[in-house]
Amino acid sequence: MKKYNFNAGPSVLPDVVLEAAAKAIIDFDGTGLSLLSISHRTPEFDAVMAEAKSLFKELLNIPDNYHIFFVGGGASTQFFHIPANFLGKKAGYVNTGVWTKKAIKEAKKFGEVEILASSEDKNFNYIPKGFAIPEDLDYLYICANNTIYGTEYKTDIDSPVPLFADMSSDILSRPVDVSKYALIYGGAQKNLAPAGVTFVIVRDDMLQKVVRDLPTMVNVNTHVENNSMFNTPPVFPIYVLRETLKWMKAEGGLDAIYQRNLAKAKLLYDEIDRNPLFRGTVEKEDRSLMNICFVMAEGKEDLAPAFMEYAKSKGMVGIKGHRLVGGFRASCYNACPVEAVEALVACMQEFEQMQK
Ligand SMILES: Cc1ncc(COP(=O)(O)O)c(C=O)c1O
Repeated sequence: MKKYNFNAGPSVLPDVVLEAAAKAIIDFDGTGLSLLSISHRTPEFDAVMAEAKSLFKELLNIPDNYHIFFVGGGASTQFFHIPANFLGKKAGYVNTGVWTKKAIKEAKKFGEVEILASSEDKNFNYIPKGFAIPEDLDYLYICANNTIYGTEYKTDIDSPVPLFADMSSDILSRPVDVSKYALIYGGAQKNLAPAGVTFVIVRDDMLQKVVRDLPTMVNVNTHVENNSMFNTPPVFPIYVLRETLKWMKAEGGLDAIYQRNLAKAKLLYDEIDRNPLFRGTVEKEDRSLMNICFVMAEGKEDLAPAFMEYAKSKGMVGIKGHRLVGGFRASCYNACPVEAVEALVACMQEFEQMQK
């Protein structure tokens, strides 16, 4: 049976990318050696690193005064790397759920944290807006897309202080005005690669703003100065990331991918809003394009296990909602084909008919 992969992460990657990765494990770019057993200090891997960075720059339209680097440790490592480097006195955080809470917890170990706004009052089902940003902050920190709750910032904030964003789950899914951010980072295991590599995009002037003497691996300058090769980089995920970026470019680039993401999200949200058995959990204007959360409509809650069973029988994978929200979550990352979303919508319609 055909499977439709809606996993929240690690998640679906394009078939051509998986094929290229499988081939490289046997024979890396014609070297006759496996990608898993070469030195990262070879001209062949240098070329992979260079192309990964240049494609990232091209696709996301990253200005020249930014650096891109790749490190291990997952996005969670940046929760403490960021304040270690940049939190001298006080930073502002917007609390939009689990991933910002974890970042806030780490930041408090380095300085004062001011929570400028929070959506905790409604179980994080919206993005706070219109909050004041004090000008004496070292930086403002947000999570652009909240994977668990399915909320997403739709505009790039104008911030009087350096703006930092966790874009783990919406990087390269929509155009972003990078010039409004001082630092963007994320784990690659949703839209770009398997787990194991984190991307960091940092504005040049921030490199002089490191506030304390840090262990070498924690200092942001180490990774910029050493072209992501101070230590052994996660070679395999970086290779896959490059293949995903090549795929994106061949698909027409970020605008084409964005249009496709808009169309997929519309298809599913329209069905959630139309189908009397279901309801969305997020304020409409803040609905994520990537993580689409829904539950059974009021009075229909008992049907949840039956719908899950039916969806599974039709090949849907990974649609169980996070335990903090319940219900269902379909993660429709870049590589999730429109046919998968059509199949899920058909499933919801068939289930509706079965209840009559
Ligand atoms: C938005 C967001 N930030 C951070 C993380 C943590 O990433 P990692 O597991 O790479 O530390 C996740 C994981 O799902 C996430 O969705």
